[in-house]
Amino acid sequence: MDNKQSSAGKCPVMHGAMTSSGQTNSDWWPNALNLDILHQHDSKTNPLGEDFDYAEELKQLDVEALKSDLRTLMTESQAWWPADWGSYVGMFARVAWHSAGSYRLSDGRGGGGAGNQRFAPLNSWPDNVNTDKGRRLLWPIKKKYGNKISWADLILLSGTIAYEVAGLKIYGFAFGRKDIWHPEKDTYWGAEKEWLAPSDGRYGDVDKPDTMENPLAAVQMGLIYVNPEGVNGQPDPLKTAAQVRETFARMAMDDEETAALTSVVTPSANATATVAPKTSARIPKLPTSNTRALAG
Ligand code: HEM
Repeated sequence: MDNKQSSAGKCPVMHGAMTSSGQTNSDWWPNALNLDILHQHDSKTNPLGEDFDYAEELKQLDVEALKSDLRTLMTESQAWWPADWGSYVGMFARVAWHSAGSYRLSDGRGGGGAGNQRFAPLNSWPDNVNTDKGRRLLWPIKKKYGNKISWADLILLSGTIAYEVAGLKIYGFAFGRKDIWHPEKDTYWGAEKEWLAPSDGRYGDVDKPDTMENPLAAVQMGLIYVNPEGVNGQPDPLKTAAQVRETFARMAMDDEETAALTSVVTPSANATATVAPKTSARIPKLPTSNTRALAG
């Protein structure tokens, strides 16, 4: 980067300011112990303030008004991101599912419990493409209700209301997820250095799904679970079905729940119908729906 002060133009931005991201201290002293993790989400940087008590805020939330606003949102198409067939139901079902779906059982990390989809790396995972539009669509509602509703709760509630608007019976919604306000630095998402790098590095044997490295629960870097195109992009329904079973088990789903989610809920959300027959070819279809995952 050219750090010389430029005299070109009259732009008020400080072109040429000394903000180059050259060598950092950790580049110079690579063996120094990184103690950043000790002050992750430090109270001093908490934008909510030390006295903030989400449970107390929630008591003041007008839940019915919020739900009503979300119902309206589902069919209020915006010119900057028009709703498919006039409905954002698919959008919010996916945003909420992707928020919950990063959860893995082995170390309890990921999931929709902290609003981490707003931050890197999750907000930029290839699998999360366009979830930013969903969060942007939610922004006016977030502004209206402020800290009485966390992003984590709002994202998952939007998915629940999406299913309700689509005609599914909703069994309730539990509020109470507290937001983080920085990216998480302590979650291990895999050793790969590029998005969607081949699966092989995280398996003892990529043809044996249970040899996937723990605590991971997704087959490739930047995905929530499996590659819809097949193992390493090669279509083979049986291999994909085996990976679906393993990845969903690592997300705490049993076979019945996995079948319900991939064979019933997904196609009924009018979205992955082209994908689901491939991925779940050998999983029996069940006459149930399951929105439990959306509850985080
Ligand atoms: C093996 C499991 C799954 C795979 C491989 C998969 C893959 C995909 C893919 C490739 C898309 C299209 C994204 C795009 O528009 O480019 C998609 C969309 C979608 N997925 Fe999934 N998915 C899976 C499971 C689920 C589950 C369990 C749910 C619901 C709980 C879900 C809900 C949706 C919805 C609603 C959309 C459409 C979003 C929209 O209309 O904007 N998916 N999925």
